[in-house]
Amino acid sequence: MTEIRLERVDAANREACREFAEFVGANYQGAVPLTPEAVASGSVRYFWAIQEGRRVGGTGYIARTATLAETVKTVVDPAFRGRGLGAAISQAIEDEVKRAGFTKAMTTIYIDNYAMILIKLKQGYRFEGFHPDHERPGWHEYSFGKVLG
Ligand SMILES: CC(C)(COP(=O)(O)OP(=O)(O)OC[C@H]1O[C@@H](n2cnc3c(N)ncnc32)[C@H](O)[C@@H]1OP(=O)(O)O)[C@@H](O)C(=O)NCCC(=O)NCCS
Repeated sequence: MTEIRLERVDAANREACREFAEFVGANYQGAVPLTPEAVASGSVRYFWAIQEGRRVGGTGYIARTATLAETVKTVVDPAFRGRGLGAAISQAIEDEVKRAGFTKAMTTIYIDNYAMILIKLKQGYRFEGFHPDHERPGWHEYSFGKVLG
């Protein structure tokens, strides 16, 4: 699979937080836009996805409990989509979560995001729920989870 390295976004660095929030905002139309302040709060660990020295995407996770991590904002730069990077970054953040000691990963995905749903199912995630009007009215999501072996 495509070699991906994750590089932590420094929550203490204002410019780094602005840059990451701008990247996500430009390339992922979510119900709740990511702000530099949210990145700086440090409650979510965000990462740049690096391939051959280039930033090709972003990802992150939040600790929901001591053992459960929710992965968020897995985004591929549009210039690099359709060549397996979405799957590779999804795998990289799962590996990161596992390395950090979590025993389960979960994520929520908008119901029409077939690419991401497909990626998670192929990586062994199971459907765990339907969340209508979840982050905002009209924005429906599924949740998928995987117990990490
Ligand atoms: C979702 C996203 C990460 C996928 O990235 P990508 O690099 O294009 O994905 P991949 O190349 O790894 O493709 C993964 C699979 O999805 C399929 N796929 C890609 N686009 C698709 C589409 N529009 N509809 C259906 N399937 C699609 C691919 O064919 C591939 O399946 P395969 O393994 O059977 O060939 C990318 O489109 C993106 O950044 N979207 C905006 C952010 C986003 O929605 N993130 C998810 C948050 S939950």
